Amino acid sequence: MKLVLRDLLFIFCAAQTIGVRIQSDPASSGGVIQTELKTTVSLLCQPEGSAETETDEELVWLRNGVMVSLKDDNKIGRSSVCVTPVIYEDNEATFTCHLSNNATRRASITLNVTYPPELSGSAEVSVEDSADLILNCDIWANPPVSSVLWTLNGSEVDLVAGRFTVSNDGFTGRLSSTGIERSLHEGVYQCTVVSPMYGTFSKYFQVTVTEKTIKFPLMPMIAGIVVVCLTSLLAVVARWRTFVKCFKSCKN
Ligand SMILES: *[C@@H]1O[C@H](CO)[C@@H](O)[C@H](O)[C@H]1NC(C)=O
Ligand SMILES: *[C@@H]1O[C@H](CO)[C@@H](O)[C@H](O)[C@H]1NC(C)=O
Ligand SMILES: *[C@@H]1O[C@H](CO)[C@@H](O)[C@H](O)[C@H]1NC(C)=O
Repeated sequence: MKLVLRDLLFIFCAAQTIGVRIQSDPASSGGVIQTELKTTVSLLCQPEGSAETETDEELVWLRNGVMVSLKDDNKIGRSSVCVTPVIYEDNEATFTCHLSNNATRRASITLNVTYPPELSGSAEVSVEDSADLILNCDIWANPPVSSVLWTLNGSEVDLVAGRFTVSNDGFTGRLSSTGIERSLHEGVYQCTVVSPMYGTFSKYFQVTVTEKTIKFPLMPMIAGIVVVCLTSLLAVVARWRTFVKCFKSCKN
């Protein structure tokens, strides 16, 4: 009795659900493959269900909805795709495999490419007295960084005393201040970023405040000269027009 029931169930399944299945290396979990930059991800798609009758099914791969071109011998019965090396743009890329004659029989898998923030080394920054100071730190990472901290000479920057503004758009952490003064703003700045996955990263900035130089306002003067020339030119053209008009009317 038990046996009959199982056989019936098998026949039912074979007739009903003939989908496709994706196997991957590294293995996926919940439809997501965890991977890192410069690694390799291999994907293999096969029809599932009643394997015997479906092995000559043609398969199609899509990456974010765009068809992946496959060699002819990599389409029938089973089809593999290799992502190598994994790049930033592969993060959240979805690979879908389906039967070429029935797109509803499909399976998908998404990549989660993790990478640390690219932050290291030091920079020398020289800013004129009274000018603006802007320091940037690249904080783009997956998973996103959990904190960005700015210090000056080893202590957390005093936002009020230094008239500092701190911003963070997910790509760049920025510390800025306007109208800087040597006594308040010169020193060693450091941005320290914490990645929940990759740890702590820092970058140093040696900021020097220099004497203000008096700049000769060259650009406004050039603009002034150009305007004067243009005006005289237009005046000449206008007068020439009246002259021609006058000349013509005289002739007639
Ligand atoms: C495609 O597959 C679905 C689900 O297996 C099935 O319901 C549908 O009838 C199939 N369509 C064609 C055109 O074979
Ligand atoms: C990607 O993996 C990281 C690290 O495991 C995790 O924190 C993050 O939530 C994952 N992102 C997605 C979209 O699954
Ligand atoms: C930071 O330290 C340097 C060197 O000791 C010093 O010249 C500078 O004034 C300090 N900056 C501030 C804002 O205290």
